[in-house]
Amino acid sequence: MALSLHHHLLLLILPFLLLSSTTSASHHHHHHHHDHHDHHLKSLHFSLYQHETINQTGFFIVNGVTGPGISQTTTPFGTIFAFHDPMTLTPNTTGKVVAICQGTSITTSLDGLESISIAKITLNLKNRKGSISIAGVTHNIKPADHPVVGGTGDFLFVQGYVTSSPVDLVGITVTYKIEFHLYWPPYATSYKSSS
Ligand SMILES: *[C@@H]1O[C@H](CO)[C@@H](O)[C@H](O)[C@H]1NC(C)=O
Ligand SMILES: *[C@@H]1O[C@H](CO)[C@@H](O)[C@H](O)[C@H]1NC(C)=O
Repeated sequence: MALSLHHHLLLLILPFLLLSSTTSASHHHHHHHHDHHDHHLKSLHFSLYQHETINQTGFFIVNGVTGPGISQTTTPFGTIFAFHDPMTLTPNTTGKVVAICQGTSITTSLDGLESISIAKITLNLKNRKGSISIAGVTHNIKPADHPVVGGTGDFLFVQGYVTSSPVDLVGITVTYKIEFHLYWPPYATSYKSSS
């Protein structure tokens, strides 16, 4: 299937989010001694399964211009793909949807194997709600790590990475395992998000 591309979980780059995060960090540095208890690094590790169905949750928007054709592992250079995929707790596509991964990927290597991806993952977990944004380059035939560039709600200021690995690439619905490795900087606990 064409869809290996979606390895790409991808990312929403929010430059303003990065900026405000940086600003807050340096500001807080000056007041460091007021919140020693915040120095403990909070982290969260869990996995979800992303399901992508061609022409239902994932679509080719623009055809690429050169390089190999569309195959299970390649897409022509310049191909633009967009997706809005459900994510579940188990590999079964009929599982409860606890997150949505929306984003786009663009094939950016001439061999058709790599794409830059941006995505926003909206999470509706039992104890945590909000979103994380991811940006990075995905390799179609290897597990790929994508840096987390920020978040909202209970994931405000989150850092870390997600690892995307193919689980099932056969059929019109392809499934990827997404492992989340999230870390909150000390200053994150002082802020509350409105979204
Ligand atoms: C998806 O839709 C496009 C455009 O209609 C079509 O050419 C393609 O065959 C469809 N792919 C699948 C797997 O249904
Ligand atoms: C997925 O869930 C459905 C409905 O519960 C079940 O019938 C099916 O056997 C499950 N498939 C797998 C691979 O576990």
